[in-house]
Amino acid sequence: GKGEYDHYMLKEINNQPTSLSNTIEGRIDDGDVALEELPAGTFEDVETVQFVACGTSYHAAMYGANLLRSAGISTEVVRASEYASMSGPVDEGTLVVAVTQSGETADTLEAVREATARGARSLAVTNVVGSTAAREADDAVYIRAGPEVGVAATKTFSSQAVTLALLTQRLAADVPDATPAADRETMLEELKDLPEHVEQVLETTDAETLARDTVDSKSYFFIGNGLGHSVALEGALKFKEITYEHAEGFAAGELKHGPLALVTDESPVFAVATGSGDGKTKTNAIEAQTRGAPIVAVSPDDHPLTDVAEVHLSIPDTHPVWAGLLANVQLQLVSYHAADLLERPIDKPRNLAKSVTVE
Ligand code: M6R
Repeated sequence: GKGEYDHYMLKEINNQPTSLSNTIEGRIDDGDVALEELPAGTFEDVETVQFVACGTSYHAAMYGANLLRSAGISTEVVRASEYASMSGPVDEGTLVVAVTQSGETADTLEAVREATARGARSLAVTNVVGSTAAREADDAVYIRAGPEVGVAATKTFSSQAVTLALLTQRLAADVPDATPAADRETMLEELKDLPEHVEQVLETTDAETLARDTVDSKSYFFIGNGLGHSVALEGALKFKEITYEHAEGFAAGELKHGPLALVTDESPVFAVATGSGDGKTKTNAIEAQTRGAPIVAVSPDDHPLTDVAEVHLSIPDTHPVWAGLLANVQLQLVSYHAADLLERPIDKPRNLAKSVTVE
């Protein structure tokens, strides 16, 4: 049941210190990554990686793809529903990675089948043991987030992103010519602290106050670059899904190529910073501010974005790879509290299903 919480979504947001501990458990060994499902050497023949996913899982896939590219592995992220109409080379050197919480999303299953028919090898990254994706793919790795009841995906996003970060290390070690991160050991050490850092966010967050102060706005925009871009898209999806308000996420630099026309003093802009390459996010936040938009920095305390923002949602200092996930927890809470103030049916938003089994 929901226990002390009003909604499953809030329970699941608050469960993240535990779900993330489960995701990580036993998978960091002596400064290296150990995935029992995928022993060393599993991916020796892989040349290129294609992610297929939908919705929140697509945003987690973007996160993972960003990390894979930093490891020198050629990577694409494709919306599963677009896969069949996307031409391009696929062969035995292609690993198609289906990121799907339920393992039952029709668009994602169909994309994997299409890729397999074109000769690709497949891997499912899923929460559900024995799901169709896990059964049909050549390999499966589990995110171990535990059951998620709320239609809005929360704890499964963070567990997917962490699993994909671990998978990146596996691939970087296996794929010829890939370059494992130079600071891998520090990064993995910081990962061990992620559950505690999430706990810190949950205990200190100002998200409810912020939601109350901004809830009658006209539109809500979310910007970020690099890993922050995927978090911005995810923040906007969550927000529109449960509040029914207009929310959009953009790569920070794209704002001035069109969306800036929508920015007014009635459209708060949430700027997500991870502590790495956030320069574009700051300059574009200033552009939005010049048009009257209230700026909310979702960043570490000493980040340059806090100099321009009216409001600051603080995240603990950590490795940039994990910072985006902490920012995402803040944004999950903002969406939750805004939807609660608007008295929306948070766990079952209109028109949506937890698992979309039609194409
Ligand atoms: O089960 P999946 O991860 O394949 O589901 C994909 C999307 O339908 C899902 O993430 C959806 O976008 C969520 N409701 C968003 O909160």
